[in-house]
Amino acid sequence: MDEKRKIALTVNGRVYERTVPVRLSLADFIRDHLHLTGTHLGCEHGVCGACTILLDGLSARSCLMLAVQAQGRRIDTVEGLAGADGALGALQRAFRRHHALQCGFCTPGILMSLADWLKRTPDPDEAAVREMLSGHLCRCTGYSGIVRAALEAAAELRREGAKEADDV
Ligand code: FES
Ligand code: FES
Repeated sequence: MDEKRKIALTVNGRVYERTVPVRLSLADFIRDHLHLTGTHLGCEHGVCGACTILLDGLSARSCLMLAVQAQGRRIDTVEGLAGADGALGALQRAFRRHHALQCGFCTPGILMSLADWLKRTPDPDEAAVREMLSGHLCRCTGYSGIVRAALEAAAELRREGAKEADDV
């Protein structure tokens, strides 16, 4: 029988306490125990990027972590990108405008990587966006729409940041 352990962690701003098998992956915990199925599982060995979430604000592959390693940490999943009223965030709006997805399987992971990366790289050029996206496999889109969406979202986030600074 699998050994179990109690963990407490914050996911999308909400605190969860659960008792989990010590060998359960963080991805399976998020999907099967918290029912946040926006986080997808593709390769399950760190290659495709579909399972990317934010761990204390930094992008991480949730298939490569155990749920027990997330004890006390802050997790953000794709479900947390929209506002409390369900309004899409800047990244999501840009993906919709540029048809940056087809089947959508890769999309949650790409959105979460961009959510982290654009904070640290607010004014990227196309080559930098393409290099960042090399950590994600998309079988459908050919990436062009994703690149356009990322560049436009970056510009919108810069404008939002400048406006917030003006308002202070
Ligand atoms: S499912 Fe985690 S990287 Fe592919
Ligand atoms: S939209 Fe289908 S895998 Fe990317």
